[in-house]
Amino acid sequence: MKPKILVSRAIFPEVIERLRVDFDVDYHDRDSALPPDQLAARLADKDGAITLLSDRIDAAALAGAKRLKAVCNVAVGYNNFDLAAITQAGVMATNTPGVLNDTTADTAWALLLASARRIVGADKWVRAGQWTGWKFHDDWFGSDVHHATLGILGMGRIGQAVARRASGFDMRVIYHNRNRLGPDQEAGARWVGMAELLSQSDFLVLLLPYSPAVHHIIGAAEIAQMKPTAHLINIARGGIVDDGALIEALRQRRIAGAGMDVFENEPALDPRFFGLDNVVLTPHIGSSTRATRLAMASLAADNLVAALTGRRPPNLLNPEVLQQGAVK
Ligand code: GLV
Repeated sequence: MKPKILVSRAIFPEVIERLRVDFDVDYHDRDSALPPDQLAARLADKDGAITLLSDRIDAAALAGAKRLKAVCNVAVGYNNFDLAAITQAGVMATNTPGVLNDTTADTAWALLLASARRIVGADKWVRAGQWTGWKFHDDWFGSDVHHATLGILGMGRIGQAVARRASGFDMRVIYHNRNRLGPDQEAGARWVGMAELLSQSDFLVLLLPYSPAVHHIIGAAEIAQMKPTAHLINIARGGIVDDGALIEALRQRRIAGAGMDVFENEPALDPRFFGLDNVVLTPHIGSSTRATRLAMASLAADNLVAALTGRRPPNLLNPEVLQQGAVK
């Protein structure tokens, strides 16, 4: 008998075919999240699961899943996992780091450039037929990106990829992390304290993983320390920014603009965003190219195959479950 697995949401047929070679696959073939009670019910007889960031995996989801050995998230972020509860249940947890670094860094730059040069507003204006002739003093003066200061909060793998791209724009790059990186990882960036990061950045890109410890790490007080000409880019997770405080700052033009790919309470973001002309909004598409989403789904499958064939998954988040007796 093949081990039983759940794939909780529509991914790629080629990945499902590969999983079917080794596993009996219960596939929720819809691009919508299973309600929590159905997720728990479908996990109950499974040996493993491929999950998406829309699935909350906590003690309630795992309560009946006595055979479960691994949950493999198709995302680098795993704030949908209650890692302590998963570990407590003796279940391996994995994510998909690495394969999305460049795509997500590209998206961060797309938002940064769009916000700096007001691309979305200009596009709407042209489509609305408002362009009646070229003007020297046009309505579309933007912010220079070249030779500006790029600040990165959270200089992990994606932050480093964002920093590397800045050299083509002759930018000065500063970053803040709890720990300073080695010179090979800094990609020419300089570590600074949080206050300096906030006050010096012309473009501040947020790339730190979400945890309750960083909830609203960018709120009204932090935005008040930013330059009035600065742009804020959130490509990390909703909840890192206090969206209400950001909306108020954008409304009062206390900063120049923002590029937002992630929000509090997705997809029901604060509708006051829609009335602002100094913010660019995208629907959590940081890693969204076909090639990268396929690489993420394939890596999650690699993790699951390893976990269920007695090997250490390449992206194991809770190695303590491998300690003797902990893993089922
Ligand atoms: C996407 O947001 C991810 O964490 O991979």
